[in-house]
Formats: sequence, structure tokens, C-alpha cells
Amino acid sequence: MTSTRHGADLALGIDLGTSGVSVVALGANGTVVARAEHPVPLHTPQPGWTQQDSADWVAATEAGLRAVTADVGPDRVAAIGLSGQMHGMVALDASDEVVYPAILWNDGRTAEQVERIEETVGRDIIVRRTGNRPVPGFQLPKVMWLRDHEPEAFARTRHVLFPKDYLGMHLTGRRYAEPTDASGSGCYELATGAWDVATLAALDLDPGLWPEVVASTDIVGEVDSGLARRLGLTTGVPVVAGAGDNAAAAAAMGLRADRGGAPAGTGSVSLGTSGVVQVPVAAPIPDPEGRVHLFADAYGGYLLLGVTLAAAGSLRWYRDTLGAGRSYDQLMESAAASTTGANGVTFVPYLAGERTPHMRADLRGSFHGLSLASTEADMVRAVIEGVAFSLRDALDVMRPLVGDGAPTRFLATGGGAVDDLWLETIATLFGREVARPLDDDGTAYEVGAAEGAAVLAWRGLSVTVDLTPADERVFAPVPEREGLEDAYRRYLEISRRD
Ligand code: XUL
Repeated sequence: MTSTRHGADLALGIDLGTSGVSVVALGANGTVVARAEHPVPLHTPQPGWTQQDSADWVAATEAGLRAVTADVGPDRVAAIGLSGQMHGMVALDASDEVVYPAILWNDGRTAEQVERIEETVGRDIIVRRTGNRPVPGFQLPKVMWLRDHEPEAFARTRHVLFPKDYLGMHLTGRRYAEPTDASGSGCYELATGAWDVATLAALDLDPGLWPEVVASTDIVGEVDSGLARRLGLTTGVPVVAGAGDNAAAAAAMGLRADRGGAPAGTGSVSLGTSGVVQVPVAAPIPDPEGRVHLFADAYGGYLLLGVTLAAAGSLRWYRDTLGAGRSYDQLMESAAASTTGANGVTFVPYLAGERTPHMRADLRGSFHGLSLASTEADMVRAVIEGVAFSLRDALDVMRPLVGDGAPTRFLATGGGAVDDLWLETIATLFGREVARPLDDDGTAYEVGAAEGAAVLAWRGLSVTVDLTPADERVFAPVPEREGLEDAYRRYLEISRRD
């Protein structure tokens, strides 16, 4: 057991999100005692491009650490853990200076490089080795894009890091990666836990660009003493590698393929801007067609991950365009007034292209089946159902891969999880219970990546923290909704037309 310093009873978790940096202070009893959020600007220099300036990440992270440390008192900080947006590329020169702005997970500029990877190595082989087919968001095609389009910057590039690991380097001075993010690079072999040197050789890339891989719960160093002074921290605070945001959120929810945490057989479904279905698995067995992602989890297991790019984002789009100034509550009331199957109206939520199961950035959303009899209520209901259908579509790809290991229940998170009708619809489509964890005051309990980063920081100190609240509201499948299966089949037919 690693001993924590006297009086140090909090771990700080940092989440480098796309819209900002969150820092939380978490006690070993699972209580969050302080929190800070600082926004980070997003740059879109061309349509479909997304970039951020790593100096903005650093400024937001330092501001968050300073605020939380001042709030709780420096002597209470036992360790710091990291989490963040996956897949991004931070390219560094020999002095660890950034050579090009960070290219993010939702950047779509690399379609040509993805095609070249598939032509050179073969999709099947890449899926077998890395658990995923190449997609434009991943890090590897970004490195190739830099070589193709910014040759001077590429010529100076000596190291490539993921976003949160860049922050880890800033804190500790050490360059490293850990398995959860490495498995979202497109060039990391899941079975061996090493960079995929065969693929890199075929693409004429130097494997030395990628750093050593440590475990997600490893202590990678201590906060640099000069930086600690500036942040108001005591010296010698250990930094734990942590995990990409989805794996960190899974750690916060106690999802494990093997043991501990949430009951075995629990998956998660999140209704944020994008929607994610996560199913923990013990062995790295990918979908041969790569229709769902397979990433490492933070504990030596794996997570099957289905992503629908516009989940609560679809409802936000509806509110902002067709919603006539109404609130989410009013829209949901309206949806409840329609019927199962939305009186024949189907919504395909591919507003931002779609990952699972298509992995295509060029797909678009649509309403189908509108008639003179269709009402506004039918359209909102169709949005709710369409998002739930796309999540079921992801689960259907996973089921044959997990067989008996398919989750018996799902924990619901994200902003959209406050809505009862949405969770009831998902429970019915999944044929599984969907549980919404509740806070002490009975409201939906949000556990996010920052909390997960703090849980992993505690693990780095050999302390197990359980964040799962005792209370939850459980949504069971509703047998009377038999029309939902028909509506889902209609959705499948329409969503395969493009
Ligand atoms: C997962 C993914 C997103 C980002 C968002 O594959 O691309 O969830 O990690 O931060």
C-alpha cells in the first residue's frame, strides 16, 4: 500500500473536455468536495476541422488546479489523476514544443489518410490488430495528414501525445501514453499492449514518435516543484496517468468486466451531446467489421463502445430549429402526448454523420413518414425514439460478441438521462433494466470523467473508491410498447438506404 501524506485526504481529477477543463476534489469515501470548470476555445479554421491550442488547455488546467487547491487547502491533496477527450494529436519537437495546433477527436480532415491505411494494410488486419477500423477521428491518420500537408512541421516532429498526456507531461516533465487512449490511436495492438509497429512500418512512420505506454493507474511522476509553488500545491504530489474520458467515466461508474464496482453484467448508456453505449468485456475480441469500437479499460480489461454522434444533441438541434422557443421540459411533455412509434414518423439522428454502425462522416439525418395527420408531438417523439434506435443498433452489433456476458442492466448518465420517457424507451428496446443513479436530493446523479480521473488517482495510491450512489430509479422494459420493435425495424430499413 502506498502511504498518503498525513492529512492528505483528497484526490484531484482533471478532465480535459472539448469545451473546457473540469477539476474535482474527491474524498476516499466517494464525496466530491470541490469543483472548478474553465472553458477552452475551440477553433474551426475550415469546415470539418476542429483544433485547440495546448496553451489554452494548460491555462484552464492551471486555473482549475489553483482554484480547487485554494478551496480545499494544499495539505489535503494526496494525488492528481488525468482524463480527457480521446484520439487527439499533439505533435512536439525535440524540445517538447508544439509544432502544430492539437487536432481533435471530432475533426474530419483525414478521410484520404484513412483510405490509404485501409489500402496499404487492409481493414480486416487493422481491426484484428487494433480492435477498430481506421476512422478520421483517430490519431494515426492525423499524423499522416501532418506529413502530407504540413511537411515542415512534420519534419520537426519527434513525439506524438494524446491531449491529457500532454497535460501529464506539463505537470511531471515525463512523456508517456496509457492503454485507454493508446487503443484509440489506430496503431496500438490490443492483445499485446504495444504499438502496432507492423502497421507503422507499412505506412513508413517511425514508431519512436510514440511514447512508452504505462498502466492507467501508474504514478508517472510528481508535480514539478516550480509549478507546484505557482499552483499553491505542496511539493511531491504524485500524478497518476488516468484514462480517456469514456474509460474514466466507466471507472467512475464502477464498470468492470471482471469484478468489483457495479454488479457484474452492468453496462452504461449516456445521453450527452453524443450518446455512448459501453459494455465491459474481459477479452479483446472486436467486431470483425469494426462497426463498434473496442478500447482498453483502465484496469487491464476492455470496453466495447458504440457511439451515436447526435443524441441529446439531436434534441438540442430540434429545440433550436423547430422547437418554437419551447424548453426541454415542454418538448418532452409534447413527446409523451404522441404514441409508441410516433404515429409512423421516423427520425434518423445522423445530424453529424454517424459512428456506430456506419463509421461515416458523410451521412445525414432525416424525418420520414410525415403526413397531413402528423403532429408536432409525433416529431419530438420520433427524435426521442430515433436516438434510442441508434443506441439499440449499437447494442445489436455487440450482442453476438459478448454472448452470455451481455449486460443485464445499464446505468444511465448524461444530460438526457433526466427524462423518464427516454430511459423507458431505451429499456424497452434493450430488453434490459436501465438504472438512473440518484443524488441525495433525488435528482439525477452525474458521474463524469473528472470523477473517474480522481478514482484512478486513488487507485494509483492503492485505495479503492466506490462512487456508485445507493439510490437509483430503475426503468424496466415496458411490454405494452410492442409497437416499438416494428418502429425499430422501420428505422433500420430507412437508416440503411444511403
Ligand atoms: C470516443 C470519442 C469521444 C471523445 C469525446 O471514441 O471520440 O467520446 O472521447 O471526448
